[in-house]
Amino acid sequence: MKIAVIGGGSTYTPELVDGFARLGSMVSELVLIDPAAERLEIVGAFAARIFKQYGHPGTVTWTTDLDAGVTDADAAVIQLRVGGQQARITDETFPLECGCVGQETTGAGGLAKALRTVPVILDVAERIRARAKPGAWIVDFTNPVGIVTRALLDAGHKAVGLCNVAIGFQRRFAAHLGVAPSAVVLDHVGLNHLTWERAAYVDGVDRLPELISAHLDEIAGEVDVPAEIITMLGNVPSYYLSYFYNHDKHVRESRNVPTRGQRVAEIEAILLDMYRDVTLTEKPALLGERGGAYYSEAAVGLLASLFGLDDGAVHSVNVRNNLILPFLPADAVIEISARAGLEGPVPLPVTAVSPDLAALITHTWGYEELALDAALRGGRDRVYRALLAHPLIGQHEYADALADKLIAAGRSHLAWA
Ligand code: G6P
Ligand code: MN
Repeated sequence: MKIAVIGGGSTYTPELVDGFARLGSMVSELVLIDPAAERLEIVGAFAARIFKQYGHPGTVTWTTDLDAGVTDADAAVIQLRVGGQQARITDETFPLECGCVGQETTGAGGLAKALRTVPVILDVAERIRARAKPGAWIVDFTNPVGIVTRALLDAGHKAVGLCNVAIGFQRRFAAHLGVAPSAVVLDHVGLNHLTWERAAYVDGVDRLPELISAHLDEIAGEVDVPAEIITMLGNVPSYYLSYFYNHDKHVRESRNVPTRGQRVAEIEAILLDMYRDVTLTEKPALLGERGGAYYSEAAVGLLASLFGLDDGAVHSVNVRNNLILPFLPADAVIEISARAGLEGPVPLPVTAVSPDLAALITHTWGYEELALDAALRGGRDRVYRALLAHPLIGQHEYADALADKLIAAGRSHLAWA
């Protein structure tokens, strides 16, 4: 099986390669594709050493030629970042000038990322469709995953969106409970980066109430959400909900400190230096300081399921809503626990969603619809409208100023601006 990784020159790639090397026996060829030739050479050579270290019989190749790289692929993982960390740092900075949170996947920063990313992803996906094997899957890690997956599905691609937030909870809860990760089935519901863990089933018994009472402060600290909110909801919000529940606190704490993107740029420079060392054959511990923990296991596990190679493991995926959340239209993209097989992901049944969660999900869904429209058709009016619809923005004064700042900062990546 040939797997193509678009954005394969990322310093994150060794995480993914480590997963394929350990768990991906079905992979015969892993091809890393990236326009940044110099970085790709370093990451590609390191990836090949990882495969060798684990004695994986598959080959690792790398190329800057997207069309050649995806030819005859059985699946493609897309993990690209249009504009690199520099664009991310801009996304994290300009909203702060208006008193709004600066974050790479939500708020005005997330919209900026969506606007410059969706057209690139759609172009990449067309080229995959033209050259990969018929029926090849696209697994999208590129943020904002919900909006990108919606764009891919609307364009008729065989795509599924993936994020590591749920698998991170699964691993942590399993450790607390002293069971194997695969024994924990999460009731994970919402939109990408707007999810709550409402139950953690082990052998059909929901152990989440017990986990919350035994580890409340620790969990609250990890997700940066007040313990009283977790107790009140009786579930565990992901740390992206902290930008909603603690919006103004994040804005205050972001002032005069480096952004996450700046820190990541520093980590990336050090990682690249490490990867250059030809004696390095395992992913370095420093990679653990990035937010991508377990994303390799999420990707390898999902691909194995999609190729019919496992025993019905549960994954959290971005898929069409259909009738799962009755308060959203069928064509919305939601993030949900699912089994997967040759026919694609099959979501697990979902119980009724409480009004506070449903309200925030619906509000954010509306924003995402408008964000996608702005990404596809451009124009300041559409940007303004999406900003006004975002639950973290919502006022004319902010949306108006942010629209100008977003367009000015992102112009070089926006064909219509
Ligand atoms: C988590 C999220 C990803 C996001 C990452 C950021 O893994 O699920 O969607 O890209 O965090 O991590 P970073 O190290 O780049 O801040
Ligand atoms: Mn994510």
